[in-house]
Amino acid sequence: MTFAHVMERALYDSALGYYGRGPRRIGRSGDFFTAVSVGPLYGQLLAHVACDVWESHGRPADFTLVEQGAHDGQLAEDIWNGWPNEHKPRYTIIEPQPAYREAQRARLEPLMGDRVDWVEGVSSFDVHASSFFLSNELLDAFPVHRVRWMGREWKELHVTPALEWTEGELSEAARAEVALLPNDLPAGYTTEVHPAAVEWMKAMAALPFRGAILIADYGYEAAEYYTPERADGTLRRYFNHRSDGNVLDRLGECDLTAHINFTRLIDTAEAAGLTVERFMDQGRFLTHAATPWLKSLDGKPMTSATATATALRQFHTLTHPTHMGAAFRMLLLKKDHH
Ligand SMILES: C[S@@+](CC[C@H](N)C(=O)[O-])C[C@H]1O[C@@H](n2cnc3c(N)ncnc32)[C@H](O)[C@@H]1O
Repeated sequence: MTFAHVMERALYDSALGYYGRGPRRIGRSGDFFTAVSVGPLYGQLLAHVACDVWESHGRPADFTLVEQGAHDGQLAEDIWNGWPNEHKPRYTIIEPQPAYREAQRARLEPLMGDRVDWVEGVSSFDVHASSFFLSNELLDAFPVHRVRWMGREWKELHVTPALEWTEGELSEAARAEVALLPNDLPAGYTTEVHPAAVEWMKAMAALPFRGAILIADYGYEAAEYYTPERADGTLRRYFNHRSDGNVLDRLGECDLTAHINFTRLIDTAEAAGLTVERFMDQGRFLTHAATPWLKSLDGKPMTSATATATALRQFHTLTHPTHMGAAFRMLLLKKDHH
């Protein structure tokens, strides 16, 4: 089996998969934190970013937010509550898994009424309205292929039935992406390729809406991705706030992720007619989005018990380089065509 096949089953199998069994807890009582689990400020700031797009499109009445990887609906709730005016958007969630749809419905219908709906996949999505698409830590959970440079050629690391690595021929799915990897790497250099993320980007670009696409995830540009310190790639498993590279151990009980190659994603988006509006680390992106709020605090007295102090602590966690500010990147793409 390819590792992509193993990762697909370990994460999404409806009986055994880490995500397949229903939304897990994310945050202190889960296996890892995300920007969403830090608190509602993240959603509030994204609401302002989305609202700017709504304004720039002439404030259309049928403006739609579209989220994929919405998990338990927390980010949708935070964005909805943080929307800065009374013209609430529609909210569409792309969600293939029924157990997730039910959890999201229970949380969001009381809040959004008939403004929220669901579709199963990107291909069943048929919104022609102006839209703002967003995903937080979606693409790092897409299955990747693991490959190794042998000095003259690439091999793929397959997984045996005894769950051991073995070098074999490149699978058809990996081949086109492997052809784009640098060829000046030392023998033994091991990394991943992300054909599923590339295909997803193409499908997003072809969707029938105008507006923007926001992708928030951890990842590198190509020049930082293929460096000597990552000679074993970026594949990790997460459990109980620990992480290591033993990705074949305790399959189904751990989250599995790989960093995004943002250069490849951007090249794919641009080739499909999208334009990069902003691409920066999370710290700078959110500081930009938070500037009006931060200015409004100027000169106000502050004690540690206020809601503002709580929000500022969240801001610090989200933006400080030693917390989440530097490792996460935010890519805002402009989509002008249907
Ligand atoms: C790392 S979690 C992030 C959850 C949430 N966005 C957050 O930031 O807290 C990855 C999520 O992506 C979802 N996911 C993976 N593939 C998906 C797909 N093709 N369509 C929709 N959701 C998907 C998983 O079910 C899981 O909820």
